[in-house]
Amino acid sequence: MVATVPVNNPIKTLAARLGVGIFKIRGRYAQDGLFTVHSDLFRSDPAFRAAYERGIQASHGVDPAFEWRVHIALWAARTALRVDGDFVECGVNAGFISSAILEKLRWNTVGRRFYLIDTFAGPVLTQYSDREVRSGRLTLARQTLEAGAYVTDMDRIRANFAPWPNAIVVQGAIPEILARTDFDPMRALQRAAAGKLAKQPNLGGAAALCDSLSDVISTRNTRFSLP
Ligand SMILES: C[S@@+](CC[C@H](N)C(=O)[O-])C[C@H]1O[C@@H](n2cnc3c(N)ncnc32)[C@H](O)[C@@H]1O
Repeated sequence: MVATVPVNNPIKTLAARLGVGIFKIRGRYAQDGLFTVHSDLFRSDPAFRAAYERGIQASHGVDPAFEWRVHIALWAARTALRVDGDFVECGVNAGFISSAILEKLRWNTVGRRFYLIDTFAGPVLTQYSDREVRSGRLTLARQTLEAGAYVTDMDRIRANFAPWPNAIVVQGAIPEILARTDFDPMRALQRAAAGKLAKQPNLGGAAALCDSLSDVISTRNTRFSLP
């Protein structure tokens, strides 16, 4: 039980009527829009800590406080090793999550490539749908760009991934970059994406990955739900 106040507490009763829940969050996982009463023991696992710290290193010391998200990404990556094929991340930025994965999976022992695709110039502002513009997402993207939240320093990016020769940085906009690249996973992605990408490169890219590359996909993009 996580309620901090007795069930009959009038404050809790009133809050519940207003649609508000009162929970004890001390000692519970409450980060990154996620609160849970379930075990977060993974946070004290040394292998997780090492992976997360590697993400912070990629981020030049910035901790976005999203451990559960990284935990899920690490699980998905580990699970993806059960099927053949290379890894692709669409949207890398500083490389927090991909670096954590590379660290946790000891990538130099894995014998696969990990393609890291990003404009390294932030989101492509012309790709926003009318609905996204209306909902303010374009404005938010502009503000985020102006705030310098996207890494554009390619030397920094390449230096971060240098310890893993099979981590291949690909600079370009999805979907266009998929047509210009000549490595196998990208050809597969491009084929599968042909009828789907349209104006939603993130959704199309994700769907294409589902279709063509692996049974497992991890996405942190909250702009859409996978079909
Ligand atoms: C939320 S960030 C990715 C965060 C990253 N996965 C991490 O571990 O922190 C989204 C990234 O997607 C990239 N991006 C957005 N639209 C893109 C597109 N059409 N093509 C390539 N990259 C894109 C942006 O430049 C940005 O770096």
